[in-house]
Amino acid sequence: MQTHKQTLEQTHLITKEVIEGLKAQPKYILSKYFYDDKGSELFTQIMHIPEYYLTDSELNIFKKYSRQIVNSLMVDSRPVNLIELGAGDGFKTRLLIEAMMKEKVDFSYVPIDISEEAITQLQTKFEKELPGLEIEGKVKDYEAGLGDLQYDAASQNVVLFLGSTIGNFERKDAVDFLRMINQKLKKDDVLVIGFDLVKDPEIILKAYSDKQGITSSFNLNLLERFNRELGADFDVSNFRHYPVYDPLSKAAKSFLLSEKDQDVFFEAIGETIHFDKWECIFTEISRKFDISTVNQLSKEAGFSVYKNFADDAVYFIDSLWKK
Ligand code: AVI
Repeated sequence: MQTHKQTLEQTHLITKEVIEGLKAQPKYILSKYFYDDKGSELFTQIMHIPEYYLTDSELNIFKKYSRQIVNSLMVDSRPVNLIELGAGDGFKTRLLIEAMMKEKVDFSYVPIDISEEAITQLQTKFEKELPGLEIEGKVKDYEAGLGDLQYDAASQNVVLFLGSTIGNFERKDAVDFLRMINQKLKKDDVLVIGFDLVKDPEIILKAYSDKQGITSSFNLNLLERFNRELGADFDVSNFRHYPVYDPLSKAAKSFLLSEKDQDVFFEAIGETIHFDKWECIFTEISRKFDISTVNQLSKEAGFSVYKNFADDAVYFIDSLWKK
């Protein structure tokens, strides 16, 4: 397994980006900062809460169609590099992996995640529970993880980007990100990408405001993380998780609301940031999609859609794109 520890340079970058966001008007925090080890663990919990239908929908697709998906992925008999971006606990991917093993596909599994703990746990679990699986986890960000893809013509790359994580990108950033993936791939390589579809706004909003408060802890963990890593002194009880869904832009958005006039000191830079009462910090966008937007995105990024698989309720699709 390849790992990386946070370097001084990375700590400087976090400090710079966080402070820039908190000094901006309106304030924001980049959503990549959700995923430290604690945030990744909380996100794994979110995936199993009843209101978070996205997991069940994608699981339903894999339970029903993994054999068809596997058979549609391979263009010939070359071995496959199955690369997963943001693997988490591998709960859903496991169904696909089992189908590939059953179909006797010659493949190796390369999960990529920035959380070392997530990769270590996944690798240990899969090595134990799926004997014979060739697995090499990478603790890297997506671009770096894709950077050392094998360009040899002797194998076919299949990249998994599940869970509608693409919805966490603004439209332009989504196109740039998908183009970056496209550039790392060669002709006939495949991207399997999950999209959460537009649906009843009440159902969407509930997915981001669960009764147990796990999504709230996930959002507030950002502030706890900055206390841990940047020596900030956020009193987390003075902030509230506040999710909304806007049917016009088809996006769920999450905010942290400051319930008081308050100052927060950042030891790492020796500076104080002020928060007005009811001022908000924008922390996440979760865009929802219709089929025409999916087709448009694939085109703009240099792919073509060749198959879509939907769950029974048609809440979600996994779309197969070819370069
Ligand atoms: C990872 N991503 C697709 C999740 C989402 O639904 O936007 C992250 C999440 N945020 C709050 N709940 C889940």
